[in-house]
Amino acid sequence: VNWTREEQYKKLSDISEVEYNKLLEQVNQSKWRQIFHIQPKSGLLNDPNGVIYHNGTYHIFHQWFPLGAVHGLKYWYHYTSKNLMSFKDEGVALSPDTEFDSHGVYSGSAFDYEGKLHLMYTGNVRDNEWNRKSTQMIAVQQEDGSFKKFDKPVIHDVPKGYTEHFRDPKVWKEKDKYYAIFGIQRENETGSAVIYESVNIKDWTLKGEIHTKLQDFGYMWECPDLFKLDEKDVFIFSPQGIEPQNNQFENIYQSGYLIGDFNIDTLEFEHHHFIELDQGFDFYAPQTFLDKNGKRILIGWMGLPEIDYATDEEGWAHCLTIPRELTIENNKLVQRPIKALEKLRTNKETAEGYANKHSVKLHPYEGKQYELIIDIIENEATEIYFDVRVSKKCSTQIIYNTRTKQLTLDRFESGVVSEAVDKATRTTTLNKDLEQLRIYSDTSSLEIFVNDGECVFTTRIFPDENAVNFRTSTESGQVYLKFTKYNLQ
Ligand code: FRU
Repeated sequence: VNWTREEQYKKLSDISEVEYNKLLEQVNQSKWRQIFHIQPKSGLLNDPNGVIYHNGTYHIFHQWFPLGAVHGLKYWYHYTSKNLMSFKDEGVALSPDTEFDSHGVYSGSAFDYEGKLHLMYTGNVRDNEWNRKSTQMIAVQQEDGSFKKFDKPVIHDVPKGYTEHFRDPKVWKEKDKYYAIFGIQRENETGSAVIYESVNIKDWTLKGEIHTKLQDFGYMWECPDLFKLDEKDVFIFSPQGIEPQNNQFENIYQSGYLIGDFNIDTLEFEHHHFIELDQGFDFYAPQTFLDKNGKRILIGWMGLPEIDYATDEEGWAHCLTIPRELTIENNKLVQRPIKALEKLRTNKETAEGYANKHSVKLHPYEGKQYELIIDIIENEATEIYFDVRVSKKCSTQIIYNTRTKQLTLDRFESGVVSEAVDKATRTTTLNKDLEQLRIYSDTSSLEIFVNDGECVFTTRIFPDENAVNFRTSTESGQVYLKFTKYNLQ
């Protein structure tokens, strides 16, 4: 679909109710609508924004272009939740309706100030020559739940030495000060992040760049997030312009992290190397927050920019990932689905047995929306194949090579695939033998947690409607497997 600039910058209020209802109807007919993921009711969803637990309620927002599956004029769409498992639709929270954010209410975060929920975000403005201008804005929640923007930006200009690519504030409070970290591009076109500080959230002063070893690492860093976890500091960001390297960084843009020790006074960050957060095809721009028990939870965008998706022509695209709890083990982030998701389980089925080179169709694994836990009890196979969401024509394959410990996700026969993605596989080498796969399958996605959170493959799939089967086989030798499956609702 080719959209003119004018069409892309149409507001929701520019179209009639009849026209919008037509779009909604079309979206609702899609056979790829998810059932336990946050997805746009129409149009395009991208980054999760402003995720927070505040005064007993979880808030989650996302970037939204209402009118179609393109990156047009962005809004913030709002959900609340008591448990991170079921969500209440709160509608639009922020619209591009001021001179400081006329071309998009871009990404940002939420924080508490004097008991009230505040949002800090980037206002995107284009001038007549279509030159970009970025402002940093704040909005505060009112008694009636709506959000009121401050009269003017809290940061109006880009700091000296940088381009207008300056966005995605993540705010936190430390002692009596507020800090915000932003993604930014230096004038020499390398990516970085800068930190501002404030005592009253109205006046912000630049502290400077975070000092990492990554001085020449891509041309822009988007969606930074800096937090403490298990006595360490973690810096998550989404760099653009990183080349693929030994099965890593194969998507168009990356999301990853540094673990180490950060000093807020000197801005020095001593760290290990940059590690990719997810091994799948569709993961970007994650954001973290603390849940009501003080656990660090991550939610990402299950999608990437500049790639076409099978639902585009239906007038919608993308969803968010399920929430994952983060911990640090052996200097790496471990990601596990949050415990609350267990409440989505409906009926439990189990089975166990040997699989060998004759493909075994193990019952009862039919379905589209489920959680399937596969424990590898005894493995003498050279290579194991797990075929997920199988029909006559489609199959998504997970391949484990026992000798190399390489785990591969193969979307070659998954169904409709994006032309913009050139390889059909993603591979990673595990630190230890494959012991467990925990697969969350929704209508059009898979989130595969490996070895209790050692790594995750997050991917969209667009199979045909009969793709409900599951099979296991090996190249040679046999494997003893135990299956536990829950339907999810
Ligand atoms: C990341 C991003 C952010 C920006 C937002 C706009 O996907 O490009 O940097 O704020 O999306 O929708």
